[in-house]
Order: sequence, then structure tokens, then C-alpha cells
Amino acid sequence: MKIIVCKDAAEVAARAAEIMQAVVCEKSDAVLGLATGSTPLGLYHNLIDAHNREGIDYSHVTTVNLDEYAGLPADNDQSYAYFMRHNLFDGLGIAPTQTHIENGMATDPAAECARYDALLEALPRDIQLLGIGSNGHIAFNEPGTSFDTTTHVVDLKESTIRDNARFFASMEEVPRQAFTMGMKQIMDAKQILILATGEAKADAVYGMVEGEVTTALPASILQTHPACTLICDEAAARRLTNV
Ligand code: PGA
Repeated sequence: MKIIVCKDAAEVAARAAEIMQAVVCEKSDAVLGLATGSTPLGLYHNLIDAHNREGIDYSHVTTVNLDEYAGLPADNDQSYAYFMRHNLFDGLGIAPTQTHIENGMATDPAAECARYDALLEALPRDIQLLGIGSNGHIAFNEPGTSFDTTTHVVDLKESTIRDNARFFASMEEVPRQAFTMGMKQIMDAKQILILATGEAKADAVYGMVEGEVTTALPASILQTHPACTLICDEAAARRLTNV
């Protein structure tokens, strides 16, 4: 794993934008695996800014997202479909037909997972962006998830529900289940870019980089990916000893 430690979250966003833009500049029809959460927001802001200033063209890219809450329609402002459209796709001029995410309202979850598996198979990702949960999850693959998983429905862990409650009016409104890309599919991406900022991620980052590879800390599998880059700020890197 290549590790880049930055002074703060703004520098993380700037370095991450350089990497994402390089992928698109090299291959205009790149397939981008994207993530939601607070961490990538600065990166997304920088991508839109550079698109507006320098005209970096995203009209030919295709995107696939990691995960979506079960039970939230795409027009619900807490859904990840809504998040992506408002925080990235509209700003980059990416047509909805070129963006993919699980359908949180699918009435047949198994069929929805199979549809997403087939889509991921047909769209090999040039880069997969990831955040990391404070418990070491990637996408909604919670601790204990097998490294062989494909798209599946998960019961969210109490810690994840707590972490995500800040986006909802109350804890009760946080969905208890989500669709997620599986561990195997995350690892299938040609390149992985994982971002981490803030003190609350320090333990998870330490386990991911310096701990053993274990399903107890899903992100630790990234140690075995041939082209994975971690960009984190000093707070998230606090426990690392080898940088
Ligand atoms: P965050 O979430 O960016 O909102 O901290 C990261 C994650 O849980 O994957």
C-alpha cells in the first residue's frame, strides 16, 4: 500500500483530486467506482472546481457506487443516489444514464444484488474510491464480512448506525439495512484510492495498514491489493509507525 500523509483534510482532498483527474485525463471513458460519506466531499468539490476552471471532461465516464440504504428512494435527500447527484454528478455534467447505484427500493433484494453483480462484471473499474468506517468497514462491509462476498444486503452495525445518525433527524430514522458492493468486487478494481481524515479514524487506519489481514477489520485486505493508495491527514495517521 502506498501511503501519503497530508497536513489536513484540504490537502487530502487536493491530492486525491490529482489522482482521480489523472485517471480521467488518461482515459476519457474511464469507469469510476465512487463513495459517499463526509470524507470524499472535499475531493468532489475540487473535481467540480477543476471541471469548471480547466474544462476536464467527464461526459464519457461511467460511475458505479459502492452502496445504498435499503428502503430509501433515490429522491430521498438521505439516499446515496441523491448525495451523488447533488454533490458530484450535476456539477460534473455526468448524465444519470451513466451513473449506477443499487436500487434501495428493490422489492426483490436477491434479484437486485444479481443485477448489480452483472453490472460490475460488465464495467471493470479503473479506480475505486473508498472511505473507511471507524470500525474498519469499507462500503457497508462490516467487521466479520467474508473477503469473498459480492453484492449483498447487510444489517448495519450499531456503531455504523451511530456514526451515520448525524445525517438524520433522529437515530430511529437511520435505515437498519443497506445494499453494498462486496469485498471481492472492491478488490477487483484496477486501482484503489482510500481516504481517511480525523482522529476518529486513527485506530481503523492503524489496523488497516499495520495490523494483520483479518475479516475483523475489513479494510486490512487492502494490504494485498497491487495498486492501493491511502491518503490521510496527520490526525488519522497518528498511530502509524512506518511512515
Ligand atoms: P465518512 O464515512 O466519510 O462519513 O467518515 C466513511 C465510511 O463509513 O466509509
